[in-house]
Amino acid sequence: MKDYREIIDSVGEGSHLAEGIDFIRSGSKNSGRGIFLGDHCYIHAGSRFILGNLDEHPHANMVIGNFVQINWGCYISGEGGLVIGDRVLIGPNVCILSAGHGYIDKTKLIQEQGLTYARIVIEDDVWIGGGSVVLQGTKLGKGCVVGGGSTIVNDVPPYAVVAGNPAKIIKWRKDKNNWWSRLLRPFRL
Ligand SMILES: CC(C)(COP(=O)(O)OP(=O)(O)OC[C@H]1O[C@@H](n2cnc3c(N)ncnc32)[C@H](O)[C@@H]1OP(=O)(O)O)[C@@H](O)C(=O)NCCC(=O)NCCS
Repeated sequence: MKDYREIIDSVGEGSHLAEGIDFIRSGSKNSGRGIFLGDHCYIHAGSRFILGNLDEHPHANMVIGNFVQINWGCYISGEGGLVIGDRVLIGPNVCILSAGHGYIDKTKLIQEQGLTYARIVIEDDVWIGGGSVVLQGTKLGKGCVVGGGSTIVNDVPPYAVVAGNPAKIIKWRKDKNNWWSRLLRPFRL
């Protein structure tokens, strides 16, 4: 494993980071903010983790829990703050975008309008399908599922299954040990 410890503030026990992961961060280290990766995580090749300049982005921070898997080619922004819980699965080519560009004033270039930021929270046991986009300021509730190719513009409730652009609830995860669920299983309800 390549030694990323000079770039990442902490890497937990048993976590594996593939070769060819890109980290974009500058400014103060030891500010209490940075990139913190938990135990037993697996980060595949080709992903970019971006915080920007910690001195200029007051909310920039990225805290990733334990047993998190991030598949190939993801773009993970913690510029507006990002919290990822435990046992989260992130499919290939997912974009998590906690920052954007101000754009509304048409008399100015978008490049001159600065950035916008808002924290993203991804709770435990969430699965984000390949190619999805998670926009700034959203929360993915515990145990929810995001279908492949979806765009998250609003909060997702715990255990909801959402899909599409913008993502909408298509079903709910169930308690398979629940008496009613077992009874209705033959009918696949
Ligand atoms: C979300 C998902 C898990 C749901 O699977 P499922 O429970 O078998 O869902 P269903 O096939 O019963 O679909 C229910 C409805 O949602 C729609 N739907 C399912 N996934 C969708 C998606 N990703 N985007 C848009 N619509 C979707 C279906 O077309 C269906 O619509 P209908 O009722 O009008 O026919 C699955 O479709 C998916 O997107 N998996 C992601 C796979 C992936 O990214 N793998 C990478 C490895 S991490």
